[in-house]
Amino acid sequence: MNRFDLIRVLSDGQLHSGADLAAHFQVSRTAIWKHVEQLAELGLDCERIHGQGYRLAKPLGLLDAHRIRQMMGSRAVDVIVLSEIDSTNRYLTERQKQIAGQTTLCVAEYQTGGRGRRGKHWVSPFAANLYFSMLQRFDVSISKILGLSLVVGVVVERVLRKMGCDGLGLKWPNDIVFYQKKLGGILIEVAGEAEGPCDAVVGIGLNVSMPEAVQIDQPWTDLHALLGAPVDRNELTASLVDELALAFEVFAKDGLAGFLEEWRTLDILDGQELTIEQGAKTFVGRGKGVADDGSLLVEIDGSVKALSSGEISVRWAAK
Ligand code: BTN
Repeated sequence: MNRFDLIRVLSDGQLHSGADLAAHFQVSRTAIWKHVEQLAELGLDCERIHGQGYRLAKPLGLLDAHRIRQMMGSRAVDVIVLSEIDSTNRYLTERQKQIAGQTTLCVAEYQTGGRGRRGKHWVSPFAANLYFSMLQRFDVSISKILGLSLVVGVVVERVLRKMGCDGLGLKWPNDIVFYQKKLGGILIEVAGEAEGPCDAVVGIGLNVSMPEAVQIDQPWTDLHALLGAPVDRNELTASLVDELALAFEVFAKDGLAGFLEEWRTLDILDGQELTIEQGAKTFVGRGKGVADDGSLLVEIDGSVKALSSGEISVRWAAK
C-alpha cells in the first residue's frame, strides 16, 4: 500500500478504525499511523479520534478513470489517471513515441513539478484542482499549430459557461480569467516535423477548489468560488475531452478561422493599455485584438505590430 491507497479508503469522510485499515491493507496499525502522519504534507486534514480511528476533515471527490470514461462521449481517447506525477504534460511528452498518435488523456491528483508558461511553476495541490493533459496528433505544420492555444482557450470557456460560469474572459494567448483574476492556464508543447504531422500535448490547469493557504504570485480565483458550489472534477474532465476532441477535428480541417470570432468576444486585452515584456525589453502599447493567425496586435508608437507568443509576457500597464 502507499499513502494514496489509504486516501482512497478515507476519501468517503467516514471514520475508519486503525484495526480495520490495518486488516484491509494487511499491514500493522503502526504502518497505518505512519501513513496518516504523512497526509498533512499533501494538505489533507486527517483527524485521529482516540480509541476510534481516523477520519478526513472533509470527504474528497477523487478522480476516477472509470467515471470519466463513462461520461465521455468520445470513446477513442485513452484515459490515464495518476495520483502523483511531476507534470502531466511531461508524462505525455515523454511517451509520445510509444503512444504513436493515439489520442490520450492524462489527469493527476497532484503535480510535484507542474509546468506553467515561460518556465514558471504551476502550483498543484492534492485533489484540489484539475491538472489535465491531452495528447493529440495533427496533420498540420508546426507554424499552423500555434493557433491551437487560442482554440483551447475558447473550448475551456465554452465548457465552463455550460456549467454556469458566466463572465469569463481570455487573456492572450490563453489565460482563462474572471475580471483580471486567473482561473486557469494552458500550456501546449509540440513535437514533430516542421511540415507535420506533429504531436501536441495540450495542458490545462484549472483552479477548482484552491486551498486558501496556497501561495500564488498573482490574483486568482477558483470555480468553487465562482459557482458557489462544489465541482465534480470527473464530469469537468469528461466535458473538456469531448469538446476538445470536436474542436481538434475542426481545427485540423479548417484552422483557427472558426474560433476567431468567439475568441474576439472574450478578448480582455482589446483596447487596454498593456506592458509587453520581450526578453530584456519592455514596451507599452494598446491592445488591438488578434490577427487571423492568432498573433496579438498591439499599437506601439502609432503603428500596429503583430506579436506571436513565445517569449512575450503581457500585463496591464501600471496605473
Ligand atoms: C500557464 O502558465 O498559465 C499554463 C499552466 C498550465 C498548467 C497545466 S496543469 C496540467 C499540465 N501539466 C503541466 O505541468 N502543466 C499543465
